[in-house]
Amino acid sequence: MAHQWRGVIREYFDRLDVDSNTTIITLGEGGTPLVAAPALAKLVGADEVYLKVEGMNPTGSFKDRGMTMAVSKAVTQGAKAVICASTGNTSASAAAYAAAAGIQSVVLVPEGKIALGKLAQAVAHKAQILQVQGNFDDCLDLARDLSDNYAVHLVNSVNPDRIEGQKTGAFEVFEFLDRAPDIHVLPVGNAGNYSAYFKGYKEDIQAGRIKHLPQMWGYQADGSAPFVYGTPVKNPDTIATAIRIGNPASYDLALVACEESQGRFGAVKDPDILWMHRFLSQEVGVFVEPSSATGAAGLLQASRTGDNLAGKTIVVTVTGNGLKDAAWALKDENGDEIKPQVVSKQADEVAERLGLA
Ligand code: F0G
Repeated sequence: MAHQWRGVIREYFDRLDVDSNTTIITLGEGGTPLVAAPALAKLVGADEVYLKVEGMNPTGSFKDRGMTMAVSKAVTQGAKAVICASTGNTSASAAAYAAAAGIQSVVLVPEGKIALGKLAQAVAHKAQILQVQGNFDDCLDLARDLSDNYAVHLVNSVNPDRIEGQKTGAFEVFEFLDRAPDIHVLPVGNAGNYSAYFKGYKEDIQAGRIKHLPQMWGYQADGSAPFVYGTPVKNPDTIATAIRIGNPASYDLALVACEESQGRFGAVKDPDILWMHRFLSQEVGVFVEPSSATGAAGLLQASRTGDNLAGKTIVVTVTGNGLKDAAWALKDENGDEIKPQVVSKQADEVAERLGLA
């Protein structure tokens, strides 16, 4: 009989911080495909490159793995409301899981800096949404303050339940490959996901499932790259709004992960992110939001600046679905709007326009 995926808490019950008293709130998250990307492997000169396609989660991003844990724990502890700061995906996920749990969600987003699809998701799931006159870092300070002083449960990745849930991405990579990749590449904002994969791989080592840690490579947008500059960025700026974060919440955790895995952090320019966003859509067949292309853009930059990736098996987590921030797909490489031509209903005219005649 076909196996129906039951969400990460039930699938990995023994490896997560849960017990039989935990009220499980799930939308069936996790179990996402690891898609072979031969065109990307060829481009960067690697043996094999796989995309971990997290846009296939219930709300279209990796956040759902952590949110099932965070909201389940919140509900188990009797919370009636959850709160988060967000560049969009966390709020979409928190709103959906709160709806499933029958509790209220409150989301704080930077004014005018979140993609329309993500805002629509939070609205659809009936979150209380406030646009804050500030950036993500200001929103997170506010959310922490409110959860410290009022009866709202914080579900940002400073809550360890989030990291705990997100580590399951690494478990799934091992189960697919039957080994660890040589390199695991991710886009980095708060570095919660980077730290979560590291935790998952470490636990795989401790359990004897894998023998070595993959090198963890984390990439930021260069206008928003505190890990590269070694200091918080006051006014982070990038078209990759999901990772427009100047003061990463998981800074210290991620530094340990980088050092222990002999990994690295790097920065890529916005045009290179958009180039890779288009390449993944057109040559690999996977439509991601621009921020999600940042890891792959970093991998290409590494290969172009002298890293020899021959013989390497590489996994790149692509974090969110392209439909969330679809406007970028409707622009060409010069930034001009793409508009399909209008034709009559005449077959001969259509054939001519298509170049078939
Ligand atoms: N990719 C996407 C699509 C994201 O939404 C985020 C973070 C990241 C990458 C970076 O992950 O923060 O764990 O390093 N989005 C958060 C949000 C900040 O509010 O949705 P990270």
